[in-house]
Amino acid sequence: MVGGTISDRFTACELALRRRVRSTMRVGSRLPVSEAGVNGSQNAPWTGGLRCRIMASRCGAGRTLRWGRTKECLNVFDNGGPNAVAARIVIQNPHLSTPKRNRSTVPISATKYNLSHLTQLSTQEVIGPIQDDEALFLFALIRVMRIRRILEIGGHCGYSANNFCESVGERGIVYTIDINPVPKMAANHVPIIMDARQIEPEAIDNTPLDLIFFDCHVYDVQMEMLRRLESQGMVTDRTVLALHDINLHPRQIVAWAYEIADGWVHQPVERRMVNDLRNMGYDAFPLDTHRDAHGPDLPCRHGLAVMRKFRPLTI
Ligand SMILES: C[S@@+](CC[C@H](N)C(=O)[O-])C[C@H]1O[C@@H](n2cnc3c(N)ncnc32)[C@H](O)[C@@H]1O
Repeated sequence: MVGGTISDRFTACELALRRRVRSTMRVGSRLPVSEAGVNGSQNAPWTGGLRCRIMASRCGAGRTLRWGRTKECLNVFDNGGPNAVAARIVIQNPHLSTPKRNRSTVPISATKYNLSHLTQLSTQEVIGPIQDDEALFLFALIRVMRIRRILEIGGHCGYSANNFCESVGERGIVYTIDINPVPKMAANHVPIIMDARQIEPEAIDNTPLDLIFFDCHVYDVQMEMLRRLESQGMVTDRTVLALHDINLHPRQIVAWAYEIADGWVHQPVERRMVNDLRNMGYDAFPLDTHRDAHGPDLPCRHGLAVMRKFRPLTI
């Protein structure tokens, strides 16, 4: 039985197993250990020299044995119910090649997230750029919504732009507008040196935006730019707005901050924008922290708000 093609041997193995099961297995019985193998791996004579694995060999009570076969697997299993697994025998033949599968339904590999661009110390004690926890949130948001086209207002050294470029991937594009030069962080990054108020649709390829990130801290500039892009069709009801620095600091961290009831306002502009945009029909989800959340491990959180016009979901 050891000779022949693998396919012949597998067929012979199947026939031998059918005979064994019919002649020896009764409800509640087991294949003899010498054949089934103590740990489920064995080389019984009826396998035809193939390396087989028996996952379970006991026949469940009151079950009807049925046979199933795929190119690499031979199954005998019961007709379902809570004890189905107990009566299942699976013989896997690893010598046979994996059958071709439909690529559109079978993932090629597990999803991988490259976050190596997030390099801050664990305290995330930075003034200016977004903090890594915030970058992580934006990364996830962009991935979840499959956002492709981003405009950010205020790029500084490119830390947030780099995160956006990683998130949107090669098929996406990130425009950063800043009055000062911002380094080009990736092939899909387009720095634009300009006052944000002067932006025209040509600068963003005349195509509507999926997300705008506000981080330049000048109220009139950002609101005027938003209104303009909206009137030109570059901002739609689907466009997500993200605003940085909306949180209160638990203590004074920057010289210009001022204290209110729950903490220190370090950037009033984006906080005011959240309130005004809310009145203009945008939903607001402020990602802020309670004062007590802070200490040596996280001295402050700058804060992020995510907004979009609410449109009822059609049912
Ligand atoms: C806080 S930084 C941006 C930080 C950056 N988003 C990050 O997370 O890495 C603010 C930036 O806004 C820019 N800025 C200030 N006024 C501006 C304006 N009118 N138009 C465009 N950019 C402006 C500044 O030059 C500065 O680089």
